[in-house]
Amino acid sequence: MRDKTKIIMDVDTGSDDAVALMMAMLSEDIELLGVTTVNGNLEVALTTENTLRMVEFCGKQDTVKVYRGAEYPLASTLLPTTGQSLLPIPIRESIAKADYHHATHIPTPSFTIHEEKESAVVWLINTLLSSEDGEITLVPVGPMTNIALAMRADPRIIPKIREIVMMAGGIEANETPSAEFNVWVDPEAMEIVLQSGCKITMCTLDATHTAYLTSDDAERIRSIGTKESDMCADLILKYGSTGDLSNVLDEIHRIPIHDALAVCSVVHPDVLNTIYCDCHTDIGRSFAYGTTIVDRRNLSGDRPKNCYFSLSADRQKFVDWIVEVLEKDKAQKNA
Ligand code: BDR
Ligand code: CA
Repeated sequence: MRDKTKIIMDVDTGSDDAVALMMAMLSEDIELLGVTTVNGNLEVALTTENTLRMVEFCGKQDTVKVYRGAEYPLASTLLPTTGQSLLPIPIRESIAKADYHHATHIPTPSFTIHEEKESAVVWLINTLLSSEDGEITLVPVGPMTNIALAMRADPRIIPKIREIVMMAGGIEANETPSAEFNVWVDPEAMEIVLQSGCKITMCTLDATHTAYLTSDDAERIRSIGTKESDMCADLILKYGSTGDLSNVLDEIHRIPIHDALAVCSVVHPDVLNTIYCDCHTDIGRSFAYGTTIVDRRNLSGDRPKNCYFSLSADRQKFVDWIVEVLEKDKAQKNA
């Protein structure tokens, strides 16, 4: 019997979150203990619905329960905004109504299951407190609101956490000229998590942009010939149709499936090329609000290092892992 890594995912599903969830549910190396949802790509009612859709699509509704989390970021909705502002800070309430992936409904055929009654933060705290120290890895791939709330509400969870492997941040940016989306939605929450003392691996935009997929990769995945591989290919192409990097790089249509790379790095840490360093979030509410500040040259001197920050990732290893997870799942179902 192989040892599985026990994880909890925190998601804002979102089409790349959906691929990440599918991989976590189907990988034989992972035990997914539950999923919490958060406002981000969509308002939380819809990220929750999309998460339930994916759980049911993968047939995991008996073992993978879904807990609804925060509706708004911790503090950024309190910003005074004018619409006339020169600052790159839109009206934060609009975040909760946005649809960043044109993914209002993940296109699964049926949807009959329900979220749990317990809230995400209460479930996170109770589950972590009743676990062994260092037993559970958290994999947040949306804004850090739920994780920060849980840490603030009950800091006894912190030593319980084995590691936090997050998709967030980067020197690269995709929301403002300097901020990555998950950090930008809730910068204060990100800073709370970064300074928590937990072991943190940051699967950044710099990593996900180097580990992009192509439409050929999507077709390779589809050719596995299961309903899951078909859905996975559709989700990759759907994400690719909402935004890609070809305009800033070259003519290749590059599709970064950010959140699934974070899941891959839980079982294959060497897929990420990381440096251990001091890392912060700008919470100064000016041009750089939500920027990841990464001390690559150790300029902060004595400040403790807190983060394995990824500078790049191994694209081929990532794509091959997705194919392997889906092929093994197919073999197991046919056995
Ligand atoms: C991150 O932002 C979200 O839109 C994606 O789901 C991913 O988690 C990438 O910046
Ligand atoms: Ca996400």
